[in-house]
Amino acid sequence: MSSDDKNHQQGADMGRRRMLIGATSALGAVGVGFVAVPFLKSWMPSARAKAVGAPVEVDLRTVKPDQIIKVMWRGQTIGIMNRSKKLLDRIGGHDEQLSDPGSAVIDQQPEFAVNEFRSMKPEWLVLNMHCTHLGCIPQVLPEPGAYAWEADWPGGFFCPCHKSKFDLSGRVFKGVPAPTNLIIPPYSFLDNNTLIIGVSGAA
Ligand code: FES
Repeated sequence: MSSDDKNHQQGADMGRRRMLIGATSALGAVGVGFVAVPFLKSWMPSARAKAVGAPVEVDLRTVKPDQIIKVMWRGQTIGIMNRSKKLLDRIGGHDEQLSDPGSAVIDQQPEFAVNEFRSMKPEWLVLNMHCTHLGCIPQVLPEPGAYAWEADWPGGFFCPCHKSKFDLSGRVFKGVPAPTNLIIPPYSFLDNNTLIIGVSGAA
């Protein structure tokens, strides 16, 4: 590629970045984390950015397969999970046990997430972690097996407050206190490695 072509490409990338971020100048950066590691404070957006609900940028290269990190956006805990094929294969096959397998309750996700994976890209689950019953944070339990509350747990999220259960797409099981699926926030991908929470858009 010639230097002119490179300059043109860099200019196009910068233009897309500006478009996604829009008028919001206080963009917070967040990043690395693992299951059971709640937050990495050094990469969190500033208090002012959080107060105004600024978009939050996440470096996806830091989220290893089958791990989840948690960041704050508009005062809410948002989980970003890198679902390998192993986890994606656990999402199908139990629709009859779910209250809303097809994401018919439209307030619970952007239109782009109305699919069984409830995501723009199947491998990336971006989820408001607050239980839709009374707001507790469910435990992340992706491994299937026999648990105290479920002899045949398919893997998913379990809310310890009142025992609501969600699958690995955040879809709620029948017969629990939570009335709806977990919320999918608006988000977009700046590029293959960069997620922006708070700006809804295409991949
Ligand atoms: S807050 Fe999760 S089940 Fe009640």
